[in-house]
Parts: sequence; C-alpha cells; structure tokens
Amino acid sequence: MVTVSAPHAAWDVHTAAGDFPADGLAAEQLRFLLRYATLAPSVHNTQPWRFRLAGEAVTLLADRSRQLPAADPEARELLISCGAALYHLRLALRRHGLRDDVCYWPEPAEPEAVARVQLGEPVTPAAEDELLFAAIAARRTARTPLEERRPAPAVVAALRAAARAEGAWLHTVSSERARRDIAALIAEGEQYERADITLQRERSRWAAGSILTFATAHGIATEPWEIAAGTPLLAVLETEGNHREDWLSAGQALARVLLRAAAEGVQASFLNQPLHHSGLRGRLRDIIGGSDHPQLILRLGYRAHAEPATRRPLAEVLEVAD
Ligand SMILES: Cc1cc2nc3c(=O)[nH]c(=O)nc-3n(C[C@H](O)[C@H](O)[C@H](O)COP(=O)(O)O)c2cc1C
Repeated sequence: MVTVSAPHAAWDVHTAAGDFPADGLAAEQLRFLLRYATLAPSVHNTQPWRFRLAGEAVTLLADRSRQLPAADPEARELLISCGAALYHLRLALRRHGLRDDVCYWPEPAEPEAVARVQLGEPVTPAAEDELLFAAIAARRTARTPLEERRPAPAVVAALRAAARAEGAWLHTVSSERARRDIAALIAEGEQYERADITLQRERSRWAAGSILTFATAHGIATEPWEIAAGTPLLAVLETEGNHREDWLSAGQALARVLLRAAAEGVQASFLNQPLHHSGLRGRLRDIIGGSDHPQLILRLGYRAHAEPATRRPLAEVLEVAD
C-alpha cells in the first residue's frame, strides 16, 4: 500500500494482490477498480470524466463541463485524458484476473458516453499487467530537472512497443537538428500562448501555475524550448488519424507509455505548446516526417521529482444507475 496524506487521499491505493473484493458483487469490484482510473493523467488535471455504474458494466462519460474551450476547442485533449482513464481501468481489470471487454461509443444518441467496460471472463494477468499496474500509484508528471542520462535502447524500445500496443506511435527524436527545430516550435507556441489572455486565464484557473515550473538539468528555471533542447529523450506521440477514436487511442497509448516509463524509473512531462496551433502542428509533422498526426510531445529522463497531484474522490465522479 502507498500511504499519502490528504488532500492526496486518492493515491492511497492498494497495489497488493488480495485487497480486491474477488468474492464481492460486480458493483463492489468495479468501485474498487475505478479508483485506479481516477489516477490517470489529464490535461491541466481537469479530470474530465464521469463513470456510470450499471450492473456488471461501467460507462466512461466525457465531462464537457471540464473542457478547456480556449486551449482545446475540439475536445482533443479531453478525449486523450478520457483514454488515459480508460486504459487505467482496463489494466486494473486485467491485473485482477478479469478480461477487459470494451465497447466504444456504446450509445449513438449519447456521444459523451465514450466507452463501456464490462466485467469479463476470468483471465490470467500477463507479467506486463502486473508491472504496469504496480506503477499506477508511483507515476507522476515530473517537471523538475532531469539527469542528462538517456534511457537505454531497450527501454526506448519498450516505450515504443507500449504505444503501438494501443494503436499509436511513439516517435523518438534522435537527430540534433530535429530536436533544435522542435525546440524552436515550442518557443513559438509558447509565445502564442502567452499572448492569448483567454488562454492564460483558462490555464491559471485549472493549472494554478503547475505548467511552467520546468528547470534545466543544471537546476536553473528556464524557458520550455530550452528544456526541449536539453532533454535526454524527446518523443512525439502520434496517431494515424485525427478523429475522436484516434484521440481515445492516443490517451490509452499515453497511459501505457507513462506507466511503462514509471516502471523503468523514467519520469515524463509534456511540452505541448506547438500542438495548440494548427500551423505549428503542420510544421512539427514536417520535422518528424511521415503522415501521422502528432498528439503530444513528451520529455523523458531520470531523477525528476514531483509531488502527487490532487484528484477528485471517486464519489464525485461516480453515478450509480438504478
Ligand atoms: C492530454 C494531456 C495534456 C497535458 N498537457 C500538459 C502540458 O501541456 N504541460 C504540462 O506540464 N502537463 C501537461 N499534462 C500533464 C497534466 O498536467 C497532469 O497529468 C495532471 O496535472 C495530473 O498530474 P499527474 O500526471 O502527476 O497525476 C497533460 C496531460 C494530458 C493527459
């Protein structure tokens, strides 16, 4: 068990086998498993999700009241966040020996119903499920300095495989030229964002200053583009298409990559500034090549530190159908 103090009680979850109410009712089991879904990362920690429990199934609903209209008018990052919560839920099911049966957009008349997860037949958890599940409570977005050490090729390969397994692609930036060009795009994106008062207001409402607290490997607070230029491993998560299904896949892939990274002792944070501007997104595509759609930019490395971010308690995001 990982013990943390209020207001971070949501992180006080059990990761040991044996705590799961294996002989309990389906609703009890799902309540237990949903606590892990609420620990997923989300844009500005908006936690834009609700869960509706009915019988042996739970429906994940996108909570549009927590959308960021200025930064995320298409709800792309909202659905990526929902996808991350969905992946945590699926993983928790499998780790407890239950198949994760998912039906996407189960109610055509209710587009905010993103996925329905059914308690499935018993399965034997894979070793990777155990590894990733154990990383849920330890994963953080860590924005402090990183060591200069780059993750080993085997670790990078595992992160790429994690993204692929969920239908996305993790492009790791290897050339110095590409890294510099991306750093320049980040600088440009940051300038646009700083000049946009509406965006700034929205950001400070949700993120309360947690976004721009990066520092360099040498401990000096600096600009996001400088961080990109000096980051040990810069990676872009991409999807083949750019529709709601792709955003949900990107979120599931993100969660899997981040948990795999955490399991390997690798910390991650985000440098997404160019993705909020269509012109800069196009230029990012040109830099990394290929025809896929960039969804998130990640900075990965070792020895960053972060306190756990707050979470809404499960009771606040759970509806129980009659
Ligand atoms: C789609 C998405 C976009 C994000 N964008 C940023 C970002 O631009 N900058 C940043 O510092 N963190 C970003 N984050 C990380 C969130 O701020 C973080 O997940 C949230 O504050 C909860 O903290 P935790 O990840 O430590 O649990 C993003 C997360 C998601 C899922």
